Amino acid sequence: MDGEEFRKIGHQLIDDISNFIDSIDQKPVTPNESPTHLQALLGNVSLPENGKPVTDLISKTTDLLFNHSLLNGHPKFLGYITSSAAPIGALADLLAASVNPNVGAHILSPIATEIEKQTIQWLSEFIGVSSDYGGLLVSGGNMANFTAFLAARTAKTPKSIKEDGIQNTSKKLTVYCSKTTHTWIEKAVILFGLGTNAIRWIPTDAFNKMDTTILETTIKDDVEHNCIPLIVVGTAGDVSTGVVDDLSKIAAICKKYDIWFHIDGAYGAPAAIIPKYDHLFDGIKEADSIALDPHKWLYSPLEAGCTLVKNPQNLIDTYSSHPEYYNFNNSEDQLTQNFYEYGLQNSRGFRALKVWLSLQQVGRSGYQKLISEDIALSETLYDLAKKHPELEAVSQNLSITTFRYIPLTHSNNNEALNKLNEEILNEIHTGGKAFLSNAFVNDHYCLRACIVNFRTSKKDIHEIIDIVIEAGRSAYA
Ligand SMILES: Cc1ncc(COP(=O)(O)O)c(C=O)c1O
Repeated sequence: MDGEEFRKIGHQLIDDISNFIDSIDQKPVTPNESPTHLQALLGNVSLPENGKPVTDLISKTTDLLFNHSLLNGHPKFLGYITSSAAPIGALADLLAASVNPNVGAHILSPIATEIEKQTIQWLSEFIGVSSDYGGLLVSGGNMANFTAFLAARTAKTPKSIKEDGIQNTSKKLTVYCSKTTHTWIEKAVILFGLGTNAIRWIPTDAFNKMDTTILETTIKDDVEHNCIPLIVVGTAGDVSTGVVDDLSKIAAICKKYDIWFHIDGAYGAPAAIIPKYDHLFDGIKEADSIALDPHKWLYSPLEAGCTLVKNPQNLIDTYSSHPEYYNFNNSEDQLTQNFYEYGLQNSRGFRALKVWLSLQQVGRSGYQKLISEDIALSETLYDLAKKHPELEAVSQNLSITTFRYIPLTHSNNNEALNKLNEEILNEIHTGGKAFLSNAFVNDHYCLRACIVNFRTSKKDIHEIIDIVIEAGRSAYA
């Protein structure tokens, strides 16, 4: 494709995307079509033998994506934790893909590397930790947590572990997190050779925070039984209810027992930018590492996660290698940084660009406003549920509200209520008017709304209550 053809097709595509952005609220959140239906749309054909004209391909694909996708940019998409993507992110991805820097090495991506470094600095400032933290952009929360986990393993075990692996450590490595921790932790212990039995699932207290008294007694007990306590994971915004653990207490325990303190702030860490909520994050400055996800509450398009590490040398100690076929360290400049030495990836795309541009487009005050608005909407949802005779408001933290439908004439049988609310959620998913997800809170199956969506308004929240009531009455009828 030459520049002229690209321009023509590109202009049309930009027009179509602009219309999509302006009309997203009028579309169903999801068309709810079966895999069979979707496969029929694509046609059961083999790998094309011959090429096709780009105009046709792009126009057909635009139609496929606009009309057969779940739209997480819809104002009534409040399920799971995927943000409405800021349009500047789409422009950034187009620009990044067009220049296509390989942000694995400085020499291959001179300005892109510097932009990623600045993005890391700004993200550190965003969540209120020292701008000396180092790190990198990764694909999402799982990868951000994995990247930190392996750095913790290198830092807290004998130096020989890199050569000998963990089978030669005479002591068992143990990991501490609350039972609300996201499932990445199970993948991490499998991936990095500790096994799931290494996880000490610490119970939560009445506020759903990690019980730090039990944390400490569990650590002591493990030390007495010849274990090496490796890492404590504090959660800053748990995936189900948005609760932030007592980070400063966890930090103190980690210091006392010389354990790596990691914070999974994939969802909630950005709320630390709001002065009214920053007390929730006391202790964050003590973290050895932090995971946060721009594709959650910074409104970046997928994929954008980030690992921040207090001492960036821990990343280099873990990930750096110098094969003979790399000629990457020929600069005199001490500031030259090769991102392949900071994480698991080698060739790396320019994910940082969309985050870097968003941070400038919106600025600190803009993010304070947007994130505060999401929290206020979540509080409104909670209040409306509390007032409604057929709803029970269950929890509200950061921008996550959980609630459930309870019919007026119901006998309060929990099992039946759980089943009913599950049916309601399924009905909402098929209806396409809104999208919620679920959470279990004290054995109650709840509907869960997580608002990381700058398009959601108060009107949407009121309408979502009506949608839930309608689905509830229909499921109970
Ligand atoms: C607290 C927390 N950690 C980690 C993750 C995983 O993030 P990702 O899906 O981007 O890998 C999530 C996802 O919702 C989360 O809420």
